[in-house]
Amino acid sequence: MTAVPVCPQRSQHRGPNGAGTSTLVLTVGGVLRPTAGTIAVGDVELTRRRPEQIRTAGVAIVPEGRQLLPNLTVEENLRVATYALGRQDARSGIAHALELFPELEKRWRITARSLSGGEQQMVVLAQALVSRPRFVLVDELSLGLAPIVVQRLVPTLEAVATTGVGVLLIEQFAHVALGLAQTAYVLERGRIHYHGTAQRLKDEPELLQSAYLLRNVDPGGDALDTLL
Ligand SMILES: Nc1ncnc2c1ncn2[C@@H]1O[C@H](COP(=O)(O)OP(=O)(O)O)[C@@H](O)[C@H]1O
Ligand SMILES: [Mg+2]
Repeated sequence: MTAVPVCPQRSQHRGPNGAGTSTLVLTVGGVLRPTAGTIAVGDVELTRRRPEQIRTAGVAIVPEGRQLLPNLTVEENLRVATYALGRQDARSGIAHALELFPELEKRWRITARSLSGGEQQMVVLAQALVSRPRFVLVDELSLGLAPIVVQRLVPTLEAVATTGVGVLLIEQFAHVALGLAQTAYVLERGRIHYHGTAQRLKDEPELLQSAYLLRNVDPGGDALDTLL
């Protein structure tokens, strides 16, 4: 998948670090319109397609903020995400999501607003994964979640990646992303500031120092450092 270089319209969105990551995710997902550049999966151009067309082409996004339909149940929120699928695919997609997040089964008839942050994150991840995408872009997986919850989610994303799904994880905590990733990108103001192996960033953390990524994070004292 390629997404180069995207220069979106002014977004209402104001991220904590202004690197342009949420804008990138929303633009790839068709929520924002790029003013220049192209988005493609292989030879299939997705630039300026509608969100549902992008989803059908195998690209799912998990926007920041765990936005669910608060008055609908977990089941209903997942069913909404399968609306473009045939009955068979919808059924197998939901079964697949429940294999990844078995915890959701006992919360099945609970309204989304009553879930914990970690459960809500599971539902939005499940919404993206029910359509069995080839690529999934996850914006701020760990934001506002306790480290133990992040520890629960990380192996599932790793398992999804192992099945051949391309996972782009946007993370304020570099160690969470670098522990999972093969390739790392550092974005600054919407431009790729660094691109290389995740291992190299782990070996040479000074490469991150100039980036926004660690601007508000103490690399030594962060609780999530102990994760990986
Ligand atoms: N490629 C870009 N070109 C121009 N402005 C951008 C670009 N990407 C982001 N911005 C602007 O920068 C601000 C922060 O972007 P955002 O995507 O929220 O950053 P992040 O999620 O990394 O904190 C937004 O106001 C957005 O409109
Ligand atoms: Mg953001």
